[in-house]
Amino acid sequence: MLKSQTEWPEPIIRVQSLSEGCIDSIPDRYIKPPTDRPFVNSCSSYDNDDDINIPIIDLGGLYGNDSDVRASIMNQISDACRDWGFFQIVNHGVSHDLMDKARETWREFFHMPMEVKQQYANSPTTYEGYGSRLGVEKGAILDWSDYYFMHYLPFTLKDYNKWPSSPPSCREVFDEYGEELVKLSGRLMKILSKNLGLEEKVVENAFGGEEVGACMRVNFYPKCPRPELTLGLSSHSDPGGMTMLLPDDQVAGLQVRKFDNWITVNPAKHAFIVNIGDQIQVLSNAVYKSVEHRVIVNSDKERVSLAFFYNPKSDIPIEPLKQLLTPETPALYPPMTFDEYRLFIRMRGPRGKSQVESMKSPR
Ligand code: OGA
Ligand code: NI
Repeated sequence: MLKSQTEWPEPIIRVQSLSEGCIDSIPDRYIKPPTDRPFVNSCSSYDNDDDINIPIIDLGGLYGNDSDVRASIMNQISDACRDWGFFQIVNHGVSHDLMDKARETWREFFHMPMEVKQQYANSPTTYEGYGSRLGVEKGAILDWSDYYFMHYLPFTLKDYNKWPSSPPSCREVFDEYGEELVKLSGRLMKILSKNLGLEEKVVENAFGGEEVGACMRVNFYPKCPRPELTLGLSSHSDPGGMTMLLPDDQVAGLQVRKFDNWITVNPAKHAFIVNIGDQIQVLSNAVYKSVEHRVIVNSDKERVSLAFFYNPKSDIPIEPLKQLLTPETPALYPPMTFDEYRLFIRMRGPRGKSQVESMKSPR
């Protein structure tokens, strides 16, 4: 069994410091094997509007009086969960001003002096704070990013001392942002539950009801002189329940796997990018799939994104919902707690979909 570790295996190097060193090459530790390298064109802005994109769903009519509109929105979400595992939502009810404020406050944090950020340096025990790697394997090839990880729920894990104290408004802004995203996630969980043919509370209850978990990783992808050799975040599926990503409004980078292709997401203005995580794949017995994604970097612009993770209570077993099982569709996964499940990514780092795939019960 995996056991968490208390120290990083090597001294931590901040990618931002490397980037600010005005180098024209990157250290070997960030160079991916040729098969993992991205295809990068020189343009990082969102001007490829004729490309394929993940579905964009307008939630505006969801609580209105028009039942056809409501049914159509529910269907679009159902299709997106089955076919893509990823979709964007607009008219989601979260204030645009709050979204911009949250992103820009975090950008400001990453531009604070290194001494300030170092006060929050994290360790692999809980990952909370300022970090620069995922996984504790000595000699691993690393990703071109720094991040900040923090908890919102349960309240027992929410610890303001582990949140930055500057910029001055940040705790207030992140508190409000977290509260809004917990509400939005709860609404989406009800929709997923109904779309699976269940009472609206079933999925949320399986997640622990009032005791769900919520945390956030803010990703900072510094400029990179050799973007064609590395990745900002290696291919992975999110280990938790559901993720709501607030992407950078200026710089593209997120790529989603569709069959053998990587589709670069073109975010709609003030949209959240929602994706299904491994725990919902397990609960839904793979009716909904958590889909691999990764991040590419570029040489002329930094990128900031806020990934909000809505997770099951961490110590209850998560397994396929009994209501979805039939003799033809027996349970694909054995029960496992999220505490145990997330040790994999915390020890080994991002590894595509290898974890959820390896859990499949033998046939
Ligand atoms: C993540 C993630 C994507 C991005 O944090 O899990 O996939 O665009 N982030 O930063
Ligand atoms: Ni992710």
